[in-house]
Amino acid sequence: MAVIMDGKSLAAKIKAQIRKQVDSLAIKPGLAVIIVGEDPASKIYVKGKINDCKECGIAGFEFVLPHTTPQSEILNLISQLNERDDVHGIICQLPLPRGIDQKSVMQAISPAKDVDSFHYENLGKTVSGNYGFLPCTPAGVMELLNHYGVEIGGKHAVVVNRSLIVGKPLAMMLLNANATVTICHSQTKNIPHMVSQADIVVTAVGRQNFITSDMVKPGAVVVDVSIIRREDGKLCGDVDFGPVSEIASHITPVPGSVGPMTRAMLMKNTLLSANGGLVG
Ligand code: GUN
Repeated sequence: MAVIMDGKSLAAKIKAQIRKQVDSLAIKPGLAVIIVGEDPASKIYVKGKINDCKECGIAGFEFVLPHTTPQSEILNLISQLNERDDVHGIICQLPLPRGIDQKSVMQAISPAKDVDSFHYENLGKTVSGNYGFLPCTPAGVMELLNHYGVEIGGKHAVVVNRSLIVGKPLAMMLLNANATVTICHSQTKNIPHMVSQADIVVTAVGRQNFITSDMVKPGAVVVDVSIIRREDGKLCGDVDFGPVSEIASHITPVPGSVGPMTRAMLMKNTLLSANGGLVG
């Protein structure tokens, strides 16, 4: 039976440490969270982030805009927030409504306040290993692996996702930690074969039972980034958890592992920004 990597309790510990550090600062860190439109999942995520702010002693400024908001208005708000001294981090919850150019919005956030680390300047730092703000989900996965003593150097990591938010930066961070990395995507031939070669599997596909026990090498470490709402309303990930946990050495449950770690990393980046920010 695999070790269950409990990101929920690790995130709670990290947030408690952040709270202590925040309380010792002369200023109160502030995080601005912009949400455009009525996507139900986004509303739940934003509520969670604002709650995390409260727990950590960070001021959470929520900006709720209707789905009809013109792009120019979003860019205007971001440029005001870029100037505000009480705002140290800015995030714009994705997805944005159709018609809004996500790339322009993300690149409008000042790299110095880009606590999601979506700006190309910050992405470049992550690729180079010259770390500044780390992208939250990849950073959460790396902290979880480190906390549970998972060896990364020399291991074969297979990342089943190539997004700019998860797969690409995580692959670079694993590579910087000396893993041999394979990225799989929708055009990859024979993903089950690729996954079966992995010492560490990270999946973020969004399909229930995408990773089954016949694909997983005995003793592999399995990290599930996906959160899928099933028809019965329950949440699950990509991994067929029961059978895979019988053969993996370590595994993350969904919900309650990578999600809380992602949010804890957002708080960590906001503290970092308020605490003098990044050098260089
Ligand atoms: N939508 C899904 N995940 C994220 C995230 O990490 N940050 C933002 N801003 N939007 C998201």
